[in-house]
Amino acid sequence: MSQATTPAFLYGVSVEGENFTDRKQETHRLKMNFENGLNVILISPRRMGKTSLVKHVAQVVDKERLQIVYMDIYDCRSEYDFYNKFAEAMMAQTGTKIEHVLDNIRQFLTRISPKIAINPDPSTEYSFSLGITPKEYSPEEILSLPERMAERIGKHIVVCIDEFQQVGEWQDSLTIQKRMRGVWQHQKHASYCLFGSRQHMMNQLFQNKRMPFYQFGEPNYLQPISTEDWIPFIQSKFSQKALTIDSAYVRRICDTVGNQSSYVQQLAWNVMLNTTDEVNEQSLQAGINDLLIQCTPLFMEQTGNLTSFQLNMLRAIVDGQHTQWTSQAVLTKYQLGTKSNIAKMKKMMIERDFIVSTDQGLFLSDPIMGLWLKQRNHWQFG
Ligand SMILES: Nc1ncnc2c1ncn2[C@@H]1O[C@H](COP(=O)(O)OP(=O)(O)OP(=O)(O)O)[C@@H](O)[C@H]1O
Ligand SMILES: [Mg+2]
Repeated sequence: MSQATTPAFLYGVSVEGENFTDRKQETHRLKMNFENGLNVILISPRRMGKTSLVKHVAQVVDKERLQIVYMDIYDCRSEYDFYNKFAEAMMAQTGTKIEHVLDNIRQFLTRISPKIAINPDPSTEYSFSLGITPKEYSPEEILSLPERMAERIGKHIVVCIDEFQQVGEWQDSLTIQKRMRGVWQHQKHASYCLFGSRQHMMNQLFQNKRMPFYQFGEPNYLQPISTEDWIPFIQSKFSQKALTIDSAYVRRICDTVGNQSSYVQQLAWNVMLNTTDEVNEQSLQAGINDLLIQCTPLFMEQTGNLTSFQLNMLRAIVDGQHTQWTSQAVLTKYQLGTKSNIAKMKKMMIERDFIVSTDQGLFLSDPIMGLWLKQRNHWQFG
């Protein structure tokens, strides 16, 4: 109950309730898609709010007609890892009690004997694993579960698969994708929301004509939460702690982190901790400085293996260079090596998510990494 124990800002995990700004439009759109059985592909840079949004929509859909099944496949390393996670989520989330779950398994997965553990921890109650192998069930049988279960429960099922880009990492990935699409596209009572970060991989899976999931669903690029929406959100959090922040400082927070949702909350929290009464230039700068310190270990690790040409490319972007990478002047100014090196370097930097390619050229994926590079390296280009 005490205010002091409630964190004012939350970052790095999916958020709900009073930690979630409304995202009205996106919620409405996704809700309509779910309720009308449209498949959705949701893509954004990291930590923009995909998981939070999907979980939020799952709360507000018409539950009489719709059953949402959510799963995160980040730790699935192979096709059958995935089928187990998939089937477990289907069994667990279409029932509320362990008896329902066991009923589900008896009805839909007769050839296996699951391992059930009753947990002493009341928040989870029980856990179970199915241990499905190709001997018991073919991929097609597992992939058809949503349709069969939807018919049985008399509700449309929306299967939400988080961190879907993992699919691209598995051995025989293309064959697996073909199987998935082959089964899912014929289902009448189940639809899919496939989402993830690693923008490059997600684009590769969904925007490439030669790939099985091309045009599988409505592509949605989740946009940042606007500064106008952050202003009341952040101001009210400050006033709950008897502190004030002028909207101009909220704008500065949003600008500093390029409106990347998680960083907005993280920086707002840092600024709050440096504020005694009202936010001023000093508390803002102290907050930014703390953010850079917090990010340093991660950035050191991420950039540790880059060659100096690759680092120079990042620095060039920070310096405002976004296009004309093969011009001799740019190559010389930023010491990028030879022209023939550029294409390979670009590709690698995009694949590893250091940079994104837009119609306006190359940009850093992480806005704070830019600030960090600037602060750390007092480099000078010709
Ligand atoms: N609607 C929102 N309102 C307020 N903050 C949000 C919102 N959505 C996201 N955030 C902030 O961003 C953080 C990350 O959110 P979330 O985990 O949903 O993003 P994500 O895109 O799924 O991230 P990842 O790329 O790591 O999977 C949250 O902890 C929160 O600080
Ligand atoms: Mg997520």
